[in-house]
Amino acid sequence: MAKVEKLVPGGLGLARHEGQVVFVEGALPGETVEIELSDAKGGFRQSRLVRIIEPVAERVAPACPHYGACGGCDLQHASHQAQLVYKRSMLEDSLRRQGGYGLEGALPEIDSLAGEPWGYRNRMQFHRAPAMADGVPRYGLKRRSSEAVEPIGDCPVAAAEIRSWLRGAVPAGGDAPERLMVYGAQGRLASGTGEFRLDLAGRVLSFAVDGFFQSNVALLGSLAQLMSGWLGRIGPVAAAADLYCGCGVFAALLPPGCGRIEAVDSNPVNCRFARANTDPERITVFECDVDAWLAGRPEGFPELVIVDPPRIGLSRRLLGQLCAEGPRHLFFVSCDPVTFCRDLKELRTAGYHVRELALLDFYPQTAHIETACWLERP
Ligand SMILES: C[S@@+](CC[C@H](N)C(=O)[O-])C[C@H]1O[C@@H](n2cnc3c(N)ncnc32)[C@H](O)[C@@H]1O
Repeated sequence: MAKVEKLVPGGLGLARHEGQVVFVEGALPGETVEIELSDAKGGFRQSRLVRIIEPVAERVAPACPHYGACGGCDLQHASHQAQLVYKRSMLEDSLRRQGGYGLEGALPEIDSLAGEPWGYRNRMQFHRAPAMADGVPRYGLKRRSSEAVEPIGDCPVAAAEIRSWLRGAVPAGGDAPERLMVYGAQGRLASGTGEFRLDLAGRVLSFAVDGFFQSNVALLGSLAQLMSGWLGRIGPVAAAADLYCGCGVFAALLPPGCGRIEAVDSNPVNCRFARANTDPERITVFECDVDAWLAGRPEGFPELVIVDPPRIGLSRRLLGQLCAEGPRHLFFVSCDPVTFCRDLKELRTAGYHVRELALLDFYPQTAHIETACWLERP
């Protein structure tokens, strides 16, 4: 028997058993649970939830029949309201543990931006699934911690366009791809190697369905609005950079008061779309690693830099340069609170302070956390 203290990044419940930390999948803070312990690894143990002895009021019945088997969602057993509270406390925990704020130190205020808890997901990756009871193969999602595919007939977190596609999604014989990316939004759907054109904040942005583009269009709109409010408070800047720019969304949305902009991404397909999405008179797209861009820029950073790295966080070289001679204003967008807080600690030590910090609920029903932070140095 164990009592769950809190959720940790990744959505696992943290409990203690005979003084040792135990992680429990599917348990919520405050719950008393029966668990089966697995072997000890380092200073902690994984466990299997056998039954919930005392549930908390935040627990709800998962809405999706595939929940638990499908690897997509991991927080459907908590109300959406509670998910937001847990995510805030996971971020606070990361700020304290990895971000250098310490267990007692004051934390920056965290703004919270959330949207629809269901039907929000515009981008999904499906896999060809084995035949179902009617003998017909369909598409599905990877099972939890497995390479096996769970056939899916419907998915309540998917956008309406994807849900209607999914209901009739039967692979066309042997030609059907094993892996299929699908993007659905604004009444349209594209899949595979197709291209999608999206209206965002008064602009049309195009991207490859199998390249990178944010999965929650509504929250991307909120993020764009948030950054535009920050920019309004900064006023005009001489020049800016959008690093890890993907298809150039942020660069494209920066107002003319941001002067000349350099946008950098290592993926050639993303760069091709970044060029198509931005005005070449104002924005130059560099198809290279951020480290290579830095190496070719002895003059240092422009006044405003936006970074949106993958899960692993900032490249060590970029982080070092930002600490040594970074810009006055740094907008740091991240999809991993642990690596974000790890990098933030170094930036703070180098003299940056947090002007604004927001938690964006890009992925309701999952423990994923997106953050956006405005850092400034004197
Ligand atoms: C989280 S995405 C952000 C994309 C973009 N900001 C957006 O919101 O659409 C991270 C991007 O970083 C790019 N990337 C990953 N590692 C990189 C590196 N070392 N140098 C440059 N770009 C990189 C990927 O191709 C991807 O487009």
